Amino acid sequence: MSDFNGRTILVTGATGGIGGATVRQLVAEGADVIASGRSVSGLEALAAETGARSLPFDLTSEDSIRDALEGVDVFGVVNCGGSGGTIQNPMETDIAVFDKVMSINARGALLVTKYTSASMVRLGVGGSIVNVSSQASLVALNGHMAYGSSKAALDNITRVSALELGPYNIRVNSVNPTVVLTDMSEGYWGREEIAAPFKKAMPLGRWATPEEIAAPIVFLLSDGAAMISGVSLPIDGGYTAQ
Ligand SMILES: NC(=O)c1ccc[n+]([C@@H]2O[C@H](COP(=O)([O-])OP(=O)(O)OC[C@H]3O[C@@H](n4cnc5c(N)ncnc54)[C@H](OP(=O)(O)O)[C@@H]3O)[C@@H](O)[C@H]2O)c1
Repeated sequence: MSDFNGRTILVTGATGGIGGATVRQLVAEGADVIASGRSVSGLEALAAETGARSLPFDLTSEDSIRDALEGVDVFGVVNCGGSGGTIQNPMETDIAVFDKVMSINARGALLVTKYTSASMVRLGVGGSIVNVSSQASLVALNGHMAYGSSKAALDNITRVSALELGPYNIRVNSVNPTVVLTDMSEGYWGREEIAAPFKKAMPLGRWATPEEIAAPIVFLLSDGAAMISGVSLPIDGGYTAQ
């Protein structure tokens, strides 16, 4: 029997590339999936395709998150909703962009953790939370001031949550992917003059697919990862090993 039979997993960012692939793999494993994002039509299409339930909410709003998650019991959470913001260096930082990216990528994931972990603790059957961070939290990347900072904050949210929730057998981990060409990343990483030197410096020398990010997320949610908590797992073709 699959680890996921009878287990409910909430996936934010489900209307996006990586979140959508994660929903598909979890459904295939037998999980009861609650898919979240802002786009109601995007969630409806995913629900029609996969059978996942839809739960729209806005990660920038504590009221929206709290109201949506009221009375919702889950075994696992994938904090995948995120924003790339704008590529900018420290000298030209637009602080409104910084605040927005922090509010979605770090604050939003923390609020989802707050409202889901309270019920996970109450249910008393353990659980697993996977935060979708980035290679940009592990190394400096040109122009990634806001985004990299938000993902570094997310990695800290992972570690402190792992510490606090471990006694309830709730594991918390990050995955830190390299580039996946999705709506978020195409505008910058799709440019050949940016992509070519980066891939040359990466041992595996190519971008990841959404499925190659979803599979390690599903592993970290599974019982096979029962002793793994508090890690930030690069899925980066070896880029950050150098
Ligand atoms: N693509 C990459 O190269 C890459 C690399 C490393 C890490 N990541 C991370 O992977 C995650 C998924 O990215 P992706 O590439 O799949 O991007 P994507 O296709 O652009 O999807 C982004 C998702 O985030 C949701 N979202 C954005 N703002 C939101 C808000 N205020 N409230 C609720 N949901 C919101 C979007 O939902 P709606 O459109 O429905 O609002 C969408 O489902 C992100 O956390 C990203 O930082 C991506």
